[in-house]
Amino acid sequence: MKYDDYLKKYERKTGKSRRLYSRSADIFPGGISHNIRYFEPYPFYVNSAKGKYLRDVDGNRYTDYWMGHWALILGHSPAVVSSALARQVRNGTLYGVVNDVSVKLGEAIQKFMPRAEMMRFCSTGSEATMYAVRLARAKTGRRVIAKAIGGWHGFNTTLMQTVNYPYEVEEGPGLVQDEGQYVESLQFNDLESSLKVLETIKDDLACIIIEPVLGGAGCIPPVAGYLQGLQEFAKKNDVLFILDEIVTGFRLSPNGAASVYGLEPDLFTLGKICGGGLPIGVVCGSKELMSLADPVQRPDKEARCAIGGGTFSANPVTMTAGLATLDFLKKNKGSIYPKISRLGEMARNGLSKIFSDAKIPCRVTGTHSVFLTHFVSDDRSIANATDVATSDKKKLIQYHMALMAEHGMFFLPTKMGAVSYVHEESDIKKLLSATQDIVDSGLFKQT
Ligand SMILES: Cc1ncc(COP(=O)(O)O)c(C=O)c1O
Repeated sequence: MKYDDYLKKYERKTGKSRRLYSRSADIFPGGISHNIRYFEPYPFYVNSAKGKYLRDVDGNRYTDYWMGHWALILGHSPAVVSSALARQVRNGTLYGVVNDVSVKLGEAIQKFMPRAEMMRFCSTGSEATMYAVRLARAKTGRRVIAKAIGGWHGFNTTLMQTVNYPYEVEEGPGLVQDEGQYVESLQFNDLESSLKVLETIKDDLACIIIEPVLGGAGCIPPVAGYLQGLQEFAKKNDVLFILDEIVTGFRLSPNGAASVYGLEPDLFTLGKICGGGLPIGVVCGSKELMSLADPVQRPDKEARCAIGGGTFSANPVTMTAGLATLDFLKKNKGSIYPKISRLGEMARNGLSKIFSDAKIPCRVTGTHSVFLTHFVSDDRSIANATDVATSDKKKLIQYHMALMAEHGMFFLPTKMGAVSYVHEESDIKKLLSATQDIVDSGLFKQT
C-alpha cells in the first residue's frame, strides 16, 4: 500500500475528527494547544481512554504507545488512581492553601529518591526546569547554562535554545537574542567536544542541565561515561549538575535514571509520572541548595532565590493522583519495572529484526521501556539529536500513520513510544506483526 492509501483509510474512519479539527483551527493557532499534537492530515479527537486504549469521537480504538507524553506508566485511568481521585474531588479540588496530601507525596518521593532532601512542587515540567536553572544561578552567582543540543526542558524561555533542527539557527521570533547568549549547547554523547565547550565557558558557568536519555529529541540513551564525565567536570569546577528526570524519573527505575547510571546530581527535576496523570513539576535537591528559596529563613528578597509554584501548585487533586501512583509503584515495583523493560526490549529487538530482514536501513533506539525507530540512508548510528533530525522523518511519519490507520496503534508521529504496565506481550507481538504487514504492503518501497 502507498502512503496515500493509508491516509485515505485514516480519513474515511475519522470524519468527526476532521470536522472538529476544522473548528479547532479557527480557535487555536494550528488547531492545537501543544505544537507536537498536530499531525497530517489532522489529529483524531479523543473522548475517552482506559487502560491501554484511546477511543476517538468516531468510535475508533487505538492501542496507545504515546501514553500521555509518556506520563501514564499505569495506563489510562487506572482504578487505584481514579478511585482516589473520586474521593478527593468530593473533598475539594483546589484549596489554595497547604494540604496534608502534598506532605505525603513529598515524603513518598523522598523514599524513592533520597537526594530529594527538599523539593518544590509546581504545575509543569517547564516550570521545574526554569526554577532549577534559576537556583543554579543563585547558588553560583554565574550566568551561563549548558544544555544538550536537542535537549528539551519544556517551553520556559531560558531553555528554549537549540531545541529544533537546524540547531545553530535561532529558535524564532519572540525570543530575545540576548537570552541565547547565556546558554551553550553540547553535543550529546560526545564527551570530548562537550568538555571542550565547557572548558571555554567554565568561569561563568552556573550549571549543566541534561536529560539522561534524550527524549523529545529522539529517544537516545547515553553512551557509557558521557553523563559521568559531565558530572565530574561539574564537580571539579563548582558548577551545578542538574538532571532533568521529568521523563526518566519513575520510568527507567523507581529511583530514576540517577540510580541506573550511578549519578549524583546537585538538583533534579521530576514531572509526568509522579503527577499520576495530572499536571505536575517538581524541583528537588539538597537542603543547602533548596533553602536558597526559603521565604521563611530568608525574608529579605536580596537573599532569596525567587522560585514559585503557582496557583495550582501542590493542588490536592494532583497530589492525590501522584500519591496513589507512587503507592502502587512501591507495592508492585518488582513486577512493573522488569515487565515494562522486557517489553521495551522485545519491541526494540523485534522491530530491528523486521526492518533488517527487509533490508530497510534503520536503527531502533531506546532503553528500558522506551523505543523509537529511525530510518537512515546508511549504516551510521543514532547517537545525538542531529543524527535523529537528519534521518528520514517522512518515512517515520508514514510508518506511524500506517499503524494508526490500518492497525489501530498510536504513536504520536515521530515521537518515541513507551510501554506501560497495562501493555502485554501480546500487544508487542501485535505491534511487530502490524509492522511486518506494513513492510510487506510495500509502503517503504515507494519513492
Ligand atoms: C525532559 C523534559 N523536561 C521538561 C519537560 C516539560 O514538561 P511539561 O510539558 O510538563 O512542561 C518535558 C516534556 O515533555 C520533558 O520531556
